[in-house]
Amino acid sequence: MQKDKNNPVFNATWTYADAPESTNHIQIKKRYHLYINGAFTEPVQKSYFDTTNPATQEILAEVGNATNQDVDKAVQSAKKAFKSWSKLSGKERGKYIFRIARLLQERAREFAVIESLDGGKPIRESRDIDIPLAANHFFYYAGWADKLEYAFPNRKPKPIGVAAQIIPWNFPLLMAAWKIAPALATGNTVVLKPAETTPLTALKLAEIIHESGLPKGVVNIITGAGETGAALVNHPDVNKIAFTGSTNVGKYIQKATAGSSKKLTLELGGKGANIIFEDAAIDQAVEGIVNAIFFNQGHVCCAGSRLFVQESVAAIVIEKLKQRMQTLIIGNPLDKNTDIGAINSKKQLKTIKNYIKIGLEEGGEIYQPTCNLPKNGNWCAPTLFLNVSQSHRIVQEEIFGPVLAIQTFRTIDEVIEKANNTPYGLSAGVWTQKGSKIFQLTQKLNAGVVWANTFNKFDPSSPFGGYKESGMGREGGLHGLKAYIKFEE
Ligand code: NAI
Ligand code: MG
Repeated sequence: MQKDKNNPVFNATWTYADAPESTNHIQIKKRYHLYINGAFTEPVQKSYFDTTNPATQEILAEVGNATNQDVDKAVQSAKKAFKSWSKLSGKERGKYIFRIARLLQERAREFAVIESLDGGKPIRESRDIDIPLAANHFFYYAGWADKLEYAFPNRKPKPIGVAAQIIPWNFPLLMAAWKIAPALATGNTVVLKPAETTPLTALKLAEIIHESGLPKGVVNIITGAGETGAALVNHPDVNKIAFTGSTNVGKYIQKATAGSSKKLTLELGGKGANIIFEDAAIDQAVEGIVNAIFFNQGHVCCAGSRLFVQESVAAIVIEKLKQRMQTLIIGNPLDKNTDIGAINSKKQLKTIKNYIKIGLEEGGEIYQPTCNLPKNGNWCAPTLFLNVSQSHRIVQEEIFGPVLAIQTFRTIDEVIEKANNTPYGLSAGVWTQKGSKIFQLTQKLNAGVVWANTFNKFDPSSPFGGYKESGMGREGGLHGLKAYIKFEE
């Protein structure tokens, strides 16, 4: 526990003992090949790159760097596999997806540790959220595989073909599950590219997929950076693209596919408003604020990164928030007590630090708890900015780190206006005891997801996606199936 000498409540003289999760049960190979056509294959150019542990800078493994020729091999294998996979009955497809879900559950502990090692997130999150939710997505969509006719009655849903899926580094395995599960359930085949800083759990998933006996070529997993992603996007035999990542790359993909018949879903950035009314349960709301912005170090597209507190309770909410931040434990992601882990990459840390500098230059008032950040690795203390307004860059732009911009409001109309004043529209949170206020806001907030008296809750059955620069299309639930089907006339 971090100590604050000025705070009588939290100046405890004790600290939590270390509680690190052991790593002796996991297996990470020195080198990973690409998973193409049911086999772990050396990249054509035999080039590899390192993935590191952002908490220590240690190299964990090297992974294949897929170039155009590898991308082509993967797409061709998916195209070939589509012929038989798309004809298989939904019941048979479902069996494979259930098998993948169960294998993932069996190896959940190993996956959780590797997710935290490779990406820096606290083990508490990878163990309790990322991995179970990923398995849950496979279970959920396995259930739909033989019920598509019921999902879309009288519409004769048909698969599209080869789905190119490009995912980010903030929820590596979970994003792979969000993408692969609905694609398989609907009879499509897949080429998935994980992010360059967090490829390991996707490659482990390839092992599970292999073990499940899924016909070869149905899922191909290739690693590489932006160029590999671009080659995949531009491949003429790709029929559908599902992308989660930055708004800039999303715009690039939209341009690259304009005029083609490729179907596209984009899940991009966000600047979620978290709104606390004076009648909210204050202590719960403070927990909600912490969860909204510090979950996964703030590397969350739907993070509640703009806080709006009703003026009458602003002082008490901010005081309680500061006290709570003083108790957050920052450090070793593998420690079961850790609340905030490592920043995913040096590049992202630089981005976050730059925004903190911008916030200060623009006149924001900063608060960070006193805490000792580990020496090696990428770390950022949880940060609040007060005294900011709508025009500040840290209020408008996505920071994707543990940095919260706080503003106050007086009336409902005012807060709706402020909350919607953003190029994004992914998420929002409303904290109030009044149901009527919740309904009023959920209708008027321009956001794909609005949470009431909670934040960052996910379920495979509920659709997720944004408006405006946050992207288009929905993932999850029945809506998530639509992105992977076409209707026979
Ligand atoms: P990014 O958008 O470059 O990376 C996401 C994925 O896209 C990675 O797999 C990457 O290899 C791939 N990619 C990069 N360039 C590509 C291209 N031209 N064609 C196809 N695929 C390409 O995101 P980056 O640079 O890692 O992060 C920058 C910012 O993006 C973050 O600070 C954050 O604001 C935002 N972001 C949002 C995410 C979300 O969940 N919506 C996830 C990751 C980043
Ligand atoms: Mg890594």
